[in-house]
Amino acid sequence: MYMSTDEVRNSFLKFFEAKGHQIVESSSLVPHNDPTLLFTNAGMNQFKDCFLGLEKRAYTRATTAQRCVRAGGKHNDLENVGFTARHHTFFEMLGNFSFGDYFKEDAIKFAWEFLTQVLKLPQERLLVTIYQTDDEAFDIWNKQVGVPADRIVRIGDKPGGKPYESDNFWQMGDTGPCGPCSEIFYDHGEHIWGGRPGTPEEDGDRFIEIWNNVFMQFNRHADGTMEPLPKPSVDTGMGIERISAIMQGVHSNYEIDVFQTLIKAAADVIGYEDLSNQSLRVVADHIRSCAFLIVDGVMPSNEGRGYVLRRIIRRAVRHGNKLGAKGTFFHKLVGPLIDIMGSAGKELKKQQAIVEKVLRIEEENFGRTLDRGMAILNEALEAVEGDVLDGETVFKLYDTYGFPADLTNDVAREKGYSIDADGFEQAMEAQRQRAREAGQFGTDYNSSIKVDADTEFCGYTATQGESTISALFFDGEEIDSLSAGHKAIIVLEETPFYAESGGQCGDTGVLKTESGVFQVNDTQKLGNAIAHYGELIQGVVAKGDAVKAEVDAERRQAISLNHSATHLLHEALRIVLGEHVAQKGSLVRAEALRFDFSHLEAMTEEEIKRVERLVNQQIRRNHHIQTEIMDIEAAKAKGAMALFGEKYDDQVRVLSMGDFSTELCGGIHASNTGDIGLFKIISEAGIAAGIRRIEAVTGEAALDLIEEQQEKYQEKLGEAASKAKSLEKEIQVLKEKLAAQAGASLIDQVKDISGVKVLVAQLDGAENKALRGMVDELKNQLGSGIIMLGNVADGKVGLIAGVTKDLTGKVKAGELVNMVAVQVGGKGGGRPDMAQAGGSDASALPAALASTEAWLQERL
Ligand code: ALA
Repeated sequence: MYMSTDEVRNSFLKFFEAKGHQIVESSSLVPHNDPTLLFTNAGMNQFKDCFLGLEKRAYTRATTAQRCVRAGGKHNDLENVGFTARHHTFFEMLGNFSFGDYFKEDAIKFAWEFLTQVLKLPQERLLVTIYQTDDEAFDIWNKQVGVPADRIVRIGDKPGGKPYESDNFWQMGDTGPCGPCSEIFYDHGEHIWGGRPGTPEEDGDRFIEIWNNVFMQFNRHADGTMEPLPKPSVDTGMGIERISAIMQGVHSNYEIDVFQTLIKAAADVIGYEDLSNQSLRVVADHIRSCAFLIVDGVMPSNEGRGYVLRRIIRRAVRHGNKLGAKGTFFHKLVGPLIDIMGSAGKELKKQQAIVEKVLRIEEENFGRTLDRGMAILNEALEAVEGDVLDGETVFKLYDTYGFPADLTNDVAREKGYSIDADGFEQAMEAQRQRAREAGQFGTDYNSSIKVDADTEFCGYTATQGESTISALFFDGEEIDSLSAGHKAIIVLEETPFYAESGGQCGDTGVLKTESGVFQVNDTQKLGNAIAHYGELIQGVVAKGDAVKAEVDAERRQAISLNHSATHLLHEALRIVLGEHVAQKGSLVRAEALRFDFSHLEAMTEEEIKRVERLVNQQIRRNHHIQTEIMDIEAAKAKGAMALFGEKYDDQVRVLSMGDFSTELCGGIHASNTGDIGLFKIISEAGIAAGIRRIEAVTGEAALDLIEEQQEKYQEKLGEAASKAKSLEKEIQVLKEKLAAQAGASLIDQVKDISGVKVLVAQLDGAENKALRGMVDELKNQLGSGIIMLGNVADGKVGLIAGVTKDLTGKVKAGELVNMVAVQVGGKGGGRPDMAQAGGSDASALPAALASTEAWLQERL
């Protein structure tokens, strides 16, 4: 029974729909939910989170025809394409999925029913494999479905491999959902060489795997642990090209309808007759991945996905060229591809024009260097000693002629050589290093470019606009089109981008066309044209393309505030310093403004403050900033400040801010002075004899500066406070030490009164606070005894008495201290072992202390 590829696809989806599956659209080739994946490479990718139980959908059964790309990244089939019967950069995977709904039994039965009853494949041609230990799957196949045991092959883990490293244990990647699987093979017949799965001849083409049924049971973590999924699930995949080959009675995928059509179309556009040529297969394969990658938003570039796309396009172009293609041909295959893809070609049809254009421009660009590069490569191959082409040559071809390394390898392989991939990588790294050292930008600009066009500037009131590309320059030469990864200059008919002039720096932003994105890093005048300097970061652009120009509006706003503030500063300086102040230069950027002016001495702090105050006052007055075009004489009559020596047109733009400032200026300004918000001078310094320079900030940047300064002060205050604290502590410690020492020297004065050690002493100048510590210390040293100390500090008397515990029955410290206190005009009391008091009559202290002895003698 013959079936076209389109019919196979539809019958698969319908079959599973009838079994309760939701038909879900193929997801994009650029995976949305998985940054670890370069391109979508299996039907289950879009359902990853459903398997993990992280995402719930309205259905638990789904079926898809998923477009997949296996080029670049982990699964890279690019270099095998054209050399085998079954490798493709692009293929479609038919699949049915169960998210915790049915499991092994239904999955196996559905697959068998579809193959044997819908497609009517003879059962004796089918063979199945199961994971070594999966007895459950064996029983279902054998007992329920009736596949004889000798056609059920158990496949275990690879010898020497890790656990679960098996052809019959499917893993999405190093992490993620996985589980044992059961594959269905088709026997293409004895006339083709090859053995059953699990035999040494399994890599032959006789037994071809057509369908993989994965019994998703685990989530594999990075450390290798297997966590059971919330619910066992099913993921299956059947390459549509392989099953179509069977349904169309052919062996090679390249013989199916889709490829035959594309191969014929390729032969046609290239002008080549032998349809069996391998290069035609390569071209037919590559148009599919390239067209669908562009549909899904990938644009040729020098990085990441875009570079994989570029490599595939260039490989196709080279193979066409090898067959003698003249001019561009590849993009002409988009039409035939749409026709043959049937229901899977709908989106491509919508985007046909743009896909064709992107491909055509890529072809044109590469076409410029292809012949020259091929000549160099052929020469180098002839000169090779041994069979490996050196890395330097591979790099030169890459760097100068745009030959991706795999393309060079492709050519070398055809002639029996390989390439030194490590040497190439080393040369690449050396270049990256050079680029890093040279800095990012600047060297590529070419100021000798002459532009024969005028650009109208429409950016005084807008930061966005629509226009057309009137000229493109690359490496100093005018070109018609440009592809991603190149630095270039774009000129538009009209632009909102301000080109650097009058001290105001050029705008940055993006230019977007239907097929490309150009990052503008600077804008400069080239004659009467406005030139956007930058890099095409995505896609392609060509002369005549419609463009949406978008200035970085936030940056522009900051620039305009600084520009208006510059005018206010200019006038304020004239008021504060004198009329001699004249502008000598200015640089207005987003971050800050710089203003150079004539003045002999350094400004004083006071003058700087006055200038700041004056400018801020004018900001608060919130003058409307007005612009008027008038003739130069009228402007001068109005008192507009003009720069001496500057050449002005007859018609000039006069900018005024209330009655404070009137200047000739072509720059971009705030609407009202109030927009500036705040003005703050950062520095004032001399830069040449008689010339001073002020740097200042406005708006948000001024706030940032003040905040920063405040933080610094606060930090300093905090530091000072904690330093003071630690000094105080240190002083306290020292004082205590001194007191202890003083106490120690008093020990000599101890007397014996009735067998009790008694110390009475006067210390002058000690801190009253320190006395307590001193008494404690003395008590310790005496062991048992009575202490009475007097102290005079700042004319005041401090008294302290201490009695060791064993003696408090006879003498109370409180009574003792009070006895002395009353004699010096005070009063005191306290605990029996320690009591303090004060007094005011310092002159009476010596006598009062002397009376202690007699008082004690009475009590001891
Ligand atoms: N996800 C499984 C595979 O790609 C079906 O083989």
